Amino acid sequence: MRIVLLGAPGSGKGTQSKLIMERYQVPQISTGDLLRAAVAAGTPLGQQAKAAMDAGQLVTDDIVLGMIRERLAMPDTQQGYILDGFPRNLAQAGALDDLLKDLGKPLDVALLIDVDFESLMQRLTGRQTCASCGAVFNRYTHPTREENVCDVCGGELTHRADDNEDTIRNRLKVYEEQTRPLVQYYNERSLLKTVKGEGEIETIYKAVADVLASTRQ
Ligand code: AP5
Ligand code: MG
Repeated sequence: MRIVLLGAPGSGKGTQSKLIMERYQVPQISTGDLLRAAVAAGTPLGQQAKAAMDAGQLVTDDIVLGMIRERLAMPDTQQGYILDGFPRNLAQAGALDDLLKDLGKPLDVALLIDVDFESLMQRLTGRQTCASCGAVFNRYTHPTREENVCDVCGGELTHRADDNEDTIRNRLKVYEEQTRPLVQYYNERSLLKTVKGEGEIETIYKAVADVLASTRQ
C-alpha cells in the first residue's frame, strides 16, 4: 500500500500515520520528522533546513527530494509506505511521480484529512510529543493523565519549536498557497480520497481504514 497523506498542519497526519502503520505494517515516512532529526543532530542538511523550518516556510525541494530518494531506496519500503507531509507542492508531486514511474510502483491513494481551519491553531499550540517514544498528546484535546509525563512510557514531553502562534500562521498560509493545489492534482489523477478529520481519533481512523480497504480491492 503506497499512500500519500495530505492535510494542513495539525490535521492529524502524524497521529493517523501511526495507526495505519500498526495495521498495515508499512513505515511512516515523515519529511518533517526526518528534517527535525537532522536539525537535532546538527548535520549540514539540518543546518541548511533550520531557518526555513523555524520560519514556517518550506525547506528547498532539492533537500527534501534527496531525502525521499534515499528513504524510498530502503528495503522496508518494498511492501509500501505512508508519505506524511510529502509532497508539499506541485514540483515535489511531479518529482515523486517521476521517481515512482522509474521504480515501476505508482501510488495507490492520496488521502486528504480535512479539518476546519479554526481547530488547527488549538491543536498545534497544545501539541506535546514524548522525547523518548515519540507518542503525541495534546494539552487541550488529548491530555496525558499526569502533566508533562508520557502515558505510554513515562518519558518527558516536549513542545515543537515551530508550534508557536507566529510560525503556525505562516505554516497555515504556506499550506493554503503551496500544498492545497495538490488536492486538485491528485483528484485529476483519480487518486484522491477524503476523510473528515474532526472528532475522536479512533473514529477518524475507522474512516481512514475503510478508505484503505476499498482502495486495496
Ligand atoms: P511537518 O512536521 O510535516 O508539520 P506539518 O505539516 O505542519 O504538520 P504537523 O506535524 O504539525 O501536523 P500533523 O498533521 O502531523 O498533526 P498531528 O497528528 O501531530 O513539517 C514541519 C516543517 O518541516 C515544515 O513547516 C517545513 O518547514 C518542513 N517540511 C516538512 N516536509 C517538507 C516538505 N515535503 N517540503 C518542504 N519542507 C518540508 O496532530 C496535531 C495535534 O492535534 C496533536 O497534539 C494531536 O494529539 C492532536 N490531534 C490529532 N488528531 C486529533 C483529533 N481528531 N481531535 C483532536 N486533536 C487531535
Ligand atoms: Mg506531523
